[in-house]
Amino acid sequence: MDAGVPSTTGKFKSEKPHHHLNYHQRLLRLHYFPLSKFLSWSLFAAVILFGLFLISPHSPSALRFSSTTERRSLRGSYSAASWGGFEWEKRVRSSARIRRRPSGLSVLVTGAAGFVGTHASDALRRRGDGVVGIDNFNDYYDPSLKRARQALLSRSGIFLIEGDINDGPLLRKLFDLVAFTHVLHLAAQAGVRYAMLNPGSYVHSNVAGLVSILEAARTANPQPAVVWASSSSVYGLNTGVPFSESHRTDRPASLYAATKKAGEEIAHVYNHIYGLSITGLRFFTVYGPWGRPDMAYFSFTRDILAGKTITIFEGPGGVTVARDFTFIDDIVQGCIASLDTAKKSTGSGGTKQGPAQLRVFNLGNTSPVPVVELVSILERHLKVKAKRKVVKMPRNGDVLFTHANISSARAELGYQPTTNLQTGLKKFVKWYLAYYPSTAGSSVAKKRGGRGSSSS
Ligand SMILES: NC(=O)c1ccc[n+]([C@@H]2O[C@H](COP(=O)([O-])OP(=O)(O)OC[C@H]3O[C@@H](n4cnc5c(N)ncnc54)[C@H](O)[C@@H]3O)[C@@H](O)[C@H]2O)c1
Repeated sequence: MDAGVPSTTGKFKSEKPHHHLNYHQRLLRLHYFPLSKFLSWSLFAAVILFGLFLISPHSPSALRFSSTTERRSLRGSYSAASWGGFEWEKRVRSSARIRRRPSGLSVLVTGAAGFVGTHASDALRRRGDGVVGIDNFNDYYDPSLKRARQALLSRSGIFLIEGDINDGPLLRKLFDLVAFTHVLHLAAQAGVRYAMLNPGSYVHSNVAGLVSILEAARTANPQPAVVWASSSSVYGLNTGVPFSESHRTDRPASLYAATKKAGEEIAHVYNHIYGLSITGLRFFTVYGPWGRPDMAYFSFTRDILAGKTITIFEGPGGVTVARDFTFIDDIVQGCIASLDTAKKSTGSGGTKQGPAQLRVFNLGNTSPVPVVELVSILERHLKVKAKRKVVKMPRNGDVLFTHANISSARAELGYQPTTNLQTGLKKFVKWYLAYYPSTAGSSVAKKRGGRGSSSS
């Protein structure tokens, strides 16, 4: 999708100016133009213009699309003119170069400054694959964490381009420069609850952004195979457990889930019409070092160390909320296995030449853990007692329970998670205390009964 083109098809055709009409002719025109028609056209025009302003990628509210209760905007530091040039092209080519011959991949990783994107990019590079990253560094959560991940990737020789996946010319340029064998599409507006505050950011990144990526992939020559992140949230109000790929996914509980579900349907279209090989991965609550600050295990850690009370949700009748927490290394293993087993796309010159592969897999841990147990594990690793407040779960898009059936991924990808929550959280806490050393001090102080133990 072009950066200058709004993400909707709405167009308003303005009437030609009437400078040539004299006063009486104008009066006559007004007389024969019924007032109700005039008012409805004016209203229509105003709505369309307002809509175009809100979703224009260059408008300051492109990532905002706020409800009246929302004052926060998502900003990416990216500007459309920040790419291109000889040096830039050289860096792209060099980063995409395959070091592992003859079977290596050349992968465009979207959302590479994100939690999963950084780990996946790093793992690919370490085995000798070519990797180019793209991310708009928006401020949904602290962008300095994304910058630190970028620095990490840069040290491994990965070029992470600052850009929006809705920037069609940028994507075309990248596919002109590099014959990517695969796209690992992880860029998205994540988080379930934030969708109630900022719905437009989900449409921008998860729907328009996905279409933009698939458009670039289907017109590329050769067409890459696409592996992309859907989500366990597509199971929504499904009650059958464990969640299997054959279960219903037509009752999402949040807008986030709905955009991921829409993504799965969009993927079907691009596979069907253009012969793109596409694999959708339904991740189940991913956690680990370099994780996302908006997720419970991360914010609990921060608040426990700060002596703040943490809020734990429970379902109706005191039902425990549980998640199939999946460690980042296991997710990365599933992503890479999906790339390795993806068949080639069959399209050429934008036209399908034969049936192409279309897959969807659950990537979970197959062992749900109650959130209260997660807190107890964190307490043990942090050596700090949490101040807990249990409240009824509000209707915010969260579901009570997730549990993955991974037999499909096991059979077709050889996917086998190996890290339990206890071990994974230990690794997370170790990283957290090293990354935020000042909080490590407060942990020790609390252990000794020092000042840090009082609540803020
Ligand atoms: N982490 C989980 O538990 C989880 C669970 C299910 C699904 N997923 C999906 O996995 C993927 C990766 O998740 P994550 O946890 O790494 O999230 P993340 O927010 O850390 O990473 C996403 C990255 O995409 C970037 N991004 C967003 N919109 C963009 C745009 N329009 N253009 C360019 N970059 C953009 C963000 O800046 C961010 O760095 C996402 O698609 C997410 O929906 C994650």
